[in-house]
Amino acid sequence: MKISAIVASSENGWIGKKGKIPWNLKDDLAYFKSVTMGHTLIMGRKTYQSIGMALPGRRMIIVTRQQEFIAEGCLIVNTLREAFALAKSRGEEEVFIAGGSEIYYQTFDLVEKVYMTRVHAVVEADSYFPEVGEPDWILVSEERHSADEEHQYAFTFEVWERRRTSEE
Ligand SMILES: NC(=O)c1ccc[n+]([C@@H]2O[C@H](COP(=O)([O-])OP(=O)(O)OC[C@H]3O[C@@H](n4cnc5c(N)ncnc54)[C@H](OP(=O)(O)O)[C@@H]3O)[C@@H](O)[C@H]2O)c1
Repeated sequence: MKISAIVASSENGWIGKKGKIPWNLKDDLAYFKSVTMGHTLIMGRKTYQSIGMALPGRRMIIVTRQQEFIAEGCLIVNTLREAFALAKSRGEEEVFIAGGSEIYYQTFDLVEKVYMTRVHAVVEADSYFPEVGEPDWILVSEERHSADEEHQYAFTFEVWERRRTSEE
């Protein structure tokens, strides 16, 4: 099972502020939907609550240390290990780490591919994504979009793959 992360990040790695994403980019939401459709998402309890619902067409695994947490239409686990085991047991071929910051950092060493929407903005934030770039990562595709009436900032869809060492 491939482990991927999907994130929208400003150029300096900022992804969220006060529990919310600090921009609203319609085409990025559509991109997120098209990339993740039919797959399993693993996300932290805070990110789930900021979305507030199970996303249609995707299996959602919510990670929390709370024993009684309920999220309609989602699977709840108490450890990341359980989250990966559950995704794998259901035959998932590519599982997506969908945030937030705590979950991205804890899983980062396992992630092989990052779908990164690089938002060309400098925004204030309190949540971050780890640095992705050469030489440890290879940029396999990029597609730039300009700012317009519906998009406050320009952004680029970047896809990065972790460079494998020769021993692997
Ligand atoms: N720009 C983007 O693409 C993007 C994507 C996603 C999220 N975000 C932003 O990121 C921010 C939220 O990130 P965050 O770091 O504050 O929260 P988070 O990662 O979404 O959730 C943190 C919660 O997950 C649970 N958790 C974390 N590690 C765990 C572990 N090892 N085992 C069991 N449970 C664990 C805990 O839940 P309990 O407290 O319930 O135990 C913890 O409080 C928001 O601003 C959101 O908008 C941005």
